[in-house]
Amino acid sequence: MAKPTTIYVCSKCDAQTPKWSGRCLSCGAWGTLHEENTEQPSGKPNDRQAGVAGTLKSFADDVAEQAKTRPTKLPALDMVLGGGLVDGSVTLLAGEPGIGKSTFLAQLSLAMSDRDGRIMYITGEESPSQIQRRLHRLVKDIPPNMFFLNDTDAPTVAATIEKEKPALTIIDSIQTMSIPDVSGDAGSVSQVRACAALLTQAAKESHLPLILVGQVTKEGDVAGPRVLEHVVDTVLFLEGDHEHRYRVLRALKHRFGPTDEVALLAMTEMGLQPVLDPSSELLHDRATGISGSSVTAIIEGRRPMLLEIQSLVSPAGYGTPIRRGTGVDSTRLGMLLAVLARRAGVNVLEKDVHANAAGGIDARDPSVDLALAVAIASAAKDAPLDPRLGLFGEIGLAGELRPVALPEMRLKELARMGFLQAIVPKGQSKNAPKGLEVKEAATLREALQIIRIL
Ligand code: TYD
Ligand code: MG
Repeated sequence: MAKPTTIYVCSKCDAQTPKWSGRCLSCGAWGTLHEENTEQPSGKPNDRQAGVAGTLKSFADDVAEQAKTRPTKLPALDMVLGGGLVDGSVTLLAGEPGIGKSTFLAQLSLAMSDRDGRIMYITGEESPSQIQRRLHRLVKDIPPNMFFLNDTDAPTVAATIEKEKPALTIIDSIQTMSIPDVSGDAGSVSQVRACAALLTQAAKESHLPLILVGQVTKEGDVAGPRVLEHVVDTVLFLEGDHEHRYRVLRALKHRFGPTDEVALLAMTEMGLQPVLDPSSELLHDRATGISGSSVTAIIEGRRPMLLEIQSLVSPAGYGTPIRRGTGVDSTRLGMLLAVLARRAGVNVLEKDVHANAAGGIDARDPSVDLALAVAIASAAKDAPLDPRLGLFGEIGLAGELRPVALPEMRLKELARMGFLQAIVPKGQSKNAPKGLEVKEAATLREALQIIRIL
């Protein structure tokens, strides 16, 4: 016989404990524990219910999925998805609030509604009039087959998908959906998981694509993307810095194609627009002849991109010197300052140091080390670099330069953008493109000597 027991479940993080307390020990929320009864299986094998035998099929026969990929006609999305949206697929679009998810989906709705039939937009986060205003910002006439459903009840939404069979359903956002029988408030782990499972089933059974919006907080994931990763077929991330115009769209998981393609987008008056030549756009506003600026080549997805790294070094006030990095890894910034001081004789440990990757691009990649260290040295010595010089390489604790992935691709991009000189780690100057003079350096000190900062 199954034995009923009482457990306490947190409505915020779904943690379970055998004892009630005023505060959840797992997430620290107050007053969120509520009682639940569970049937504990006794574990005896004869308690198991009898199943019905399944039918075996041979791998030699055709087992290909019949799902069809449809281009969305939104170039950035089609590129990242490797063709378009697959019938019956569930895609999670995750990102911080305000980054442009709803804008991007408004553009997607407009792109698809003309050709593919009805679009159903589930408005949980914003009112229908707010979404209408956004659409009007993008087009004068909203196509008549763009529909909305202002409901946050997941069973209602699932039933509507099955009844109306829209060409695309967008749920904005999954954190606003709920199921009455499931414990917890909308947005809690249990609700998010249950709603996603229910809506996924509706999409699969109707063979229609579904997009879920997932809000991510600054701290990380909360009740969202991470919880949903296994439920959905595809996880897309829209990232960037709110104060800048650039956004990167990338796939973290994709059941139907590669995950290494990314798209660079710019937030404009007309929504998110693809940036066709990232390097030239990212270097466009670069001020030359000023110390503390260097250029590196990073690889985003499968493509190279040139990026300006900036640094400012100034005398520290009282107390601990300030180290601030935007778009660059703060831990690595601290490490590079120590390496500059101990291995290259550029003492900036008692100075305030600011560093950033221009354009709000995320450059937390070790291949940026050399450009970052050189930008700091250039700022500290007030020695501007040649504007046609590019650098890449990872720096180790001994001040040695370590090789990075895809050096030839990076060099080619530097040459394409008219750069004349590059400094790279040992062994990475092979097949240097014409017109680009590539010098190898074994250490950071040697690199600084080549550019005459030391
Ligand atoms: P939004 O798409 O609502 O972000 P999310 O859904 O991820 O929370 O809005 C992002 C920002 O974009 C918002 O501050 C307004 C701005 N925006 C533009 O700059 N241009 C546009 O064409 C639109 C529609 C919005
Ligand atoms: Mg939104």
